[in-house]
Amino acid sequence: MERLDKILASQGVGTRSEVRRLIRTGRVAVDGVFTRAADEKLDPTAHTIVADGRTICYKKHLYIMMNKPDGVVSASNDSHVKTVIDILPDDLRRKGLFPVGRLDKDTTGLLVITDDGAFAHAVTSPGKKVFKTYRVTLDGALTSDSIALLRDGVTIDGNEVCLPAQVAVLDEEHFIYEIRICEGKYHQIKRMAQAVGRSVTALRRTAVGRLALDPSLGAGEVRELTDQERLLPLSDG
Ligand code: URA
Repeated sequence: MERLDKILASQGVGTRSEVRRLIRTGRVAVDGVFTRAADEKLDPTAHTIVADGRTICYKKHLYIMMNKPDGVVSASNDSHVKTVIDILPDDLRRKGLFPVGRLDKDTTGLLVITDDGAFAHAVTSPGKKVFKTYRVTLDGALTSDSIALLRDGVTIDGNEVCLPAQVAVLDEEHFIYEIRICEGKYHQIKRMAQAVGRSVTALRRTAVGRLALDPSLGAGEVRELTDQERLLPLSDG
């Protein structure tokens, strides 16, 4: 059981004081009956709440897939630059949303945004072995020795040992590779490339576990994950 004003604020209807004003002015109904009691306690899954004519479809947590565009920072807020939270559409805004893991400003592709800390931990913790798949364009070809090094677990910056990566050649002529890693060290793919004498010229994340980026999402577009998709990052295979 939760307070009505807290429920409405958690669903992005407005700030706590905005939703209290809505309730006080008789614009919120529970099961068809208008109420002016912001402190009324109820189970949000067992009642129909309408605020300002909009029926609230209660969701404890949000899980959003974004096709992250170039030039946007994956942080919750940054007073200087645009973040992935800033570019969310209004109907998917609510308090507590954050990106699951970080992509560099110039990395594009699959980013999950949620307000579920346990889910984020399960996806990002190296121990959980959730592989993140990247399409990596390099400034030249990887030799078979370099590929073997990356597969064994390359040492970056002289002292940080990476876990073994999965490496596949996607387009030899244009130096495009698929690299899968299950950890998220700072600039990891770029530093792994450097460790074998190459530079990354384009980086795109295409999957997290078995959750693949929806190809119909344009740059910066988002959609909610379905209930089934929400389980995919956690069931690697
Ligand atoms: N590795 C990087 O170097 N950058 C990213 O954004 C993700 C993985």
